[in-house]
Amino acid sequence: MRVLDIHHPLVDHKLTVLRDRHTPSAVFRRLADELVTLLAYEATRHVEVADVEIETPVTSTVGRKLTKPRPMVVPILRAGLGMLDGMTRLLPTAEVGFLGMVRNDETLEVTTYANRLPDDLTDRQCFVLDPMLATGHTLIASVRYLHERGAKDITCVTLLAAPEGLKTLEEAIDPSVDLTVVTAAIDEGLNEKSYIVPGLGDAGDRLFGVVD
Ligand code: URA
Repeated sequence: MRVLDIHHPLVDHKLTVLRDRHTPSAVFRRLADELVTLLAYEATRHVEVADVEIETPVTSTVGRKLTKPRPMVVPILRAGLGMLDGMTRLLPTAEVGFLGMVRNDETLEVTTYANRLPDDLTDRQCFVLDPMLATGHTLIASVRYLHERGAKDITCVTLLAAPEGLKTLEEAIDPSVDLTVVTAAIDEGLNEKSYIVPGLGDAGDRLFGVVD
């Protein structure tokens, strides 16, 4: 598993405003969107392209364009939805599939409550969007799901990751899976409720408001 912890002044600035408890939802959504676009630039570094001949106004030349099968972007509901526009802005030809996963805060068990993805993902490059890599259980379930359906490689894009979650994910996923995690920061760790510290709180609530 590769881990890309992106260091860039703009990433640090936007993340700091996201962490601030006084940042309202509307600003949080806009900054999360901008931050994902910056992460997407790194996350798509190995997206597949092929040579194509084109005519410029001056001459003919060979350029490179995204190939088929088209990349698959998979936001994990609910919080991953706040990352979707930021990702597809850089990958406009991607298809989007959805996985709804919820964590039981007591048992930390992850259950899938929604799935809108093709059964066959053979040779597809997949980009999983989940803002918080905390215990790692949601991403373990998602990565296994995509790999079992034939995904060629899987890149998880997160805003924050906990060292415990990264370790659990790496240990749980077979090393033969071509797996990358791209994150804006690796935080100190998890608290007793498995929230990331210092973190930014509940990403879904900060993006969309509280549901209970
Ligand atoms: N999910 C969140 O939204 N925040 C955390 O800190 C951990 C999991």
